[in-house]
Order: sequence, then structure tokens, then C-alpha cells
Amino acid sequence: MPLSPSTLLCLTASTFITPTVSSSLPANANHIFNAIHSSMRQWGSSLNHNGMSFFLATVPEGTQLYHGDWRSEPIQGPEWLAFEAEHALVFTHPMPHHPPPEEGKPGPQPPPPSLQHEPQDSQQVIGRPDRSQAEDGFLHTFAAAKDLRLLYVDGMSAGKTDNGTMDSQDRILFRDGLGEGEGMRDEQKRAELFCQIVNDRWSGRLDGMLRMEAGFEIILCDFSSLEVLQVARVRPSKQGKPGGDIGMHAGQMWLPAVASRYWKIGGDRVALNYDHFVTAYDGAYELDLFPDTESDGNVTRHPRLEHIPSSELEPLRQDLDALIQTHEASESSTNWQAVADMVVDRYGARLHYLASSQASTLQQLQEEIEDIVTPFIDYDQRNTSLEVERCSRQFVRRSMPVRTVAGDAVLSVSRSVCTTLLQALCHTEYDSIVDQIQGLMEYLDWTTWKDCRGCGDHEICLIPMWPMGTVEDYNHPQCRDISQLDGHGPRYWGGRPPRPKPDPLHSDL
Ligand SMILES: *[C@@H]1O[C@H](CO)[C@@H](O)[C@H](O)[C@H]1NC(C)=O
Ligand SMILES: *[C@@H]1O[C@H](CO)[C@@H](O)[C@H](O)[C@H]1NC(C)=O
Ligand SMILES: *[C@@H]1O[C@H](CO)[C@@H](O)[C@H](O)[C@H]1NC(C)=O
Repeated sequence: MPLSPSTLLCLTASTFITPTVSSSLPANANHIFNAIHSSMRQWGSSLNHNGMSFFLATVPEGTQLYHGDWRSEPIQGPEWLAFEAEHALVFTHPMPHHPPPEEGKPGPQPPPPSLQHEPQDSQQVIGRPDRSQAEDGFLHTFAAAKDLRLLYVDGMSAGKTDNGTMDSQDRILFRDGLGEGEGMRDEQKRAELFCQIVNDRWSGRLDGMLRMEAGFEIILCDFSSLEVLQVARVRPSKQGKPGGDIGMHAGQMWLPAVASRYWKIGGDRVALNYDHFVTAYDGAYELDLFPDTESDGNVTRHPRLEHIPSSELEPLRQDLDALIQTHEASESSTNWQAVADMVVDRYGARLHYLASSQASTLQQLQEEIEDIVTPFIDYDQRNTSLEVERCSRQFVRRSMPVRTVAGDAVLSVSRSVCTTLLQALCHTEYDSIVDQIQGLMEYLDWTTWKDCRGCGDHEICLIPMWPMGTVEDYNHPQCRDISQLDGHGPRYWGGRPPRPKPDPLHSDL
């Protein structure tokens, strides 16, 4: 016989200290929690594309990495490496110069210079074969010859956009040193400047920078830290056939390959130090990351740094220096992402259900909620603050250092969830409980709630990943067949929409 939760659990309602989302919470705990949860994941880092954090990262010795190039000669660096071979394949052909965007290719649009040998618009064409000779380039496969020490810039930080994806690196890491935005052509400069900073300011303590676009990539300063496994000629192009170019076909292989890393880079290919990292979300910096913008309905507000005076960013720059000077990516640290996963896995679907009004009566709704929190209740001795503590520390080992930015954020978010659930039992109106849960979900903004679920074998749940995607893909991600990935309507990253294509670009290369 179920106890009546509304009377039972509310005896101590007055002992609740804080409402669900109160001003006494540490600043941006929800955003820091989500940054940890989405780190090194293509899905969450694409949705929350304006990263505000820097982590020390290690790629273990022996990990395979790929570079696509029209040359077969040994690569020196600084150069680009991809984690997925299909991502590198896109760059095995010289990009057509000034491609008209209305051509509607499934490939890069505009073609990113990442993993490419030179800036898009480069005047230096010396030694570069003309396009007809260069159709079929080379895939270079490497293995890390030692543990690579990297600086991970989170979010879609390799997305060459004006939408804020590069704010953190350009303003904090490069200290506004790139000059006026040259967009993509700044990429070569970024690589060179990064490697120069590593030498001049950080005593060579890093090997490169880790970023994400549609796919994770590394800018590696010195390729002598890699072993060459293979340099292979890529699959030949079919001349004269629309869409028969491996470069274009590679575009079609590219998104499914990187989408397979939506939830995990996989294979322990990257380890992050969560105990010591730097984030602009840290309340200590008192930065106004969400300047007042017209909020147009469903569009998520994204943090920016562009409007913040340089002097206000100085403490963050100094902390980034100190992080690199005094810590190692390889030092042992707490896996706060694993704790965040336990929280999201335990509560994500249940909160979604509670907020959906599928429970038919108040009693049914409260029983659902009590089922979630019942393990934390001693029914002989009700004490709400103890119940909240037990609930929010369920996945935190006692040895974990909770007095860190990550520990603080993960615990704080867990407390918000647990407090809201225990408190919801005290409400006697169905609608007010649903309101509370919906308010909590808006605050949490977990990226799992946007997942399509149940896509077919030949489909992916498509979201914008630079340089691809539409506004509709962002607002309402759907399962899409991998031969039909180029959507219609306004482009998410700006630019003109592609014209409908005469040929579905089905190459049988
Ligand atoms: C928000 O989403 C809802 C449902 O998905 C849709 O009906 C509505 O038009 C959207 N609003 C805006 C401003 O896009
Ligand atoms: C709940 O437990 C805490 C910690 O043991 C104690 O300080 C507090 O007085 C208890 N509250 C009630 C209402 O019993
Ligand atoms: C990104 O920036 C472009 C160019 O300013 C703009 O057209 C586009 O709407 C922006 N996208 C988002 C999601 O803000």
C-alpha cells in the first residue's frame, strides 16, 4: 500500500533552504556541469558550440591519427590531424577555389582549411599541382610516438564562424593577437601563433591544440612526435560524373563518421584533467557572458566573449598560463564526466517524463517522484536536508575533491535536481509540480533531451556541425538518411542555402 507522499514527505517542508534555482547557487553551475558532460563529445559540443573552457588533454602513445593531403611527402607541422579517417579524407583534394555556395555540395561549405596544407586563399601556389593532376591525394596515417600533451579548447572551437565558436581561443588564448578577423584565412596564423606561444610562454610544455568542428582535430606543432604508419593514395575520382569526386563523396562519409562519436570520442583516445581547468563560467571572473540579446523563442542563447573589455579577460588569461605552467594533463585526476553521466542517466528520462504530463493524476505523479527519491529517505526519521545530501552525493566517492570548480558544479546541479524532486512532493497541485520540473529542465538544459532516438542503420540524428547544417537541424534534430544529409532552409552558420541538386550525388566510387 503506497504511503501518501503529499502528507508524509511534507512534514519538514519548512526545512528547505533554497528553492530550485536560486541566486545562492554557484554561478553557472549548470553551464559548467554541461561543459564537463559534453567535453570530447561531438553531440553536446555541437549544441553548446561556444565553448568557454580550456582543459589539459592527453592522447596516449600509439593512438592513430590521420592527415589528408594532396602531397605524399613527409609532413612537418604545424599541421592538422583528424581522429576519424573520413574527416581527413575530405582534405585529400585541393578545394575548388571560391566554390559558389549555391552548388549545394554535401562536402564542406565553405571548405574548411583544417587538415589542409595551406590557407584557402593562399597566393603561394608554388609546388602545387593543378587540379587535374591533384584529384587523388593521400591519406597519411600516424601513430602517436609518445603521449601527446594538448590544450583542449571546448565547444565547436574549430568552427570558423562569426557566431562565437572561436571567441575563447581568439580572445583568451591568442589575447586578441590575430588582428581583425580574417575568418578562415587566420587558420594558418592560429597554428603558427599557437606553437610560438608554446615555445615562448609555456617552455614547450604542450605538443598541440585539440579542437572540434564536424570531427575532432589536433593542431600538432612538431610531427616528429608521430610515427608514420602509412601514406596511401586515396580511392580514384570518377571524372565527368556528377558527384563522382572522392572529395564530394568524402563529404557524405564525413558526417556519419563523426556522428558515431556523438557520445564518446571512444577508445580512451583522449583523457582530460577535470580537477584543474580554466573556464570563463567560473563566477570568480564575474564576466557577463550572456549579453542581452533578443531571445527569439526556441533559439538557445549562447555565451559570447566578444563584447567583454580585454582588461576583464586578463585574470582568465593569467589562470590559463598558470594552468599550463603548473599542471600536467597526465596527472591523476577525478573523472567528473563519469559522475555527470551517472546523474544525467539516472534523472534525464525521468524528469522528461514528469514534465510531459503523462502521469494522469496528482497521486500518480507524486508516486513517480517518490519512487525516484525513496532510496534516500529514512521513513522513521524524516530529515529533508539529509535526504537532499544523500541524494546529491550518491555518485560522488568520499575521496573525490569536491572543492574544485568541477566538483562544486556537479554537486550543485545534483542538489538542484534532488531538492526540486523532494520539494515537488509537497505541492498539492499537479500543474505547479509540472511547472517546477519544467523550470528545472530549462535550467539544466541537458543535451540528451535533444537526441532523436531510434534512428535507422542508414540514418543519423542530424544537428549542425560546422560547416554544415540548417537552423531547422538545430531547433528540431531528426533522423536523416545519410545520403540525404544536406538540408533545406536557412543555414545555421549563415550564408545562402544550397539550390536543390539535379543529381542525388550518389557516387559508387
Ligand atoms: C518553437 O517550437 C515550437 C514547437 O516545436 C514551434 O511551434 C514554434 O513555432 C517555435 N517558435 C519559434 C519562435 O521558432
Ligand atoms: C537534520 O539532520 C541534520 C544533520 O544531522 C541536523 O543538524 C538537523 O537538526 C536535522 N533536522 C531535523 C529537522 O531533524
Ligand atoms: C551565425 O553568423 C551568421 C553571420 O553573421 C548569421 O547569418 C547566422 O544567423 C548566425 N547563426 C547563429 C546560429 O547565430
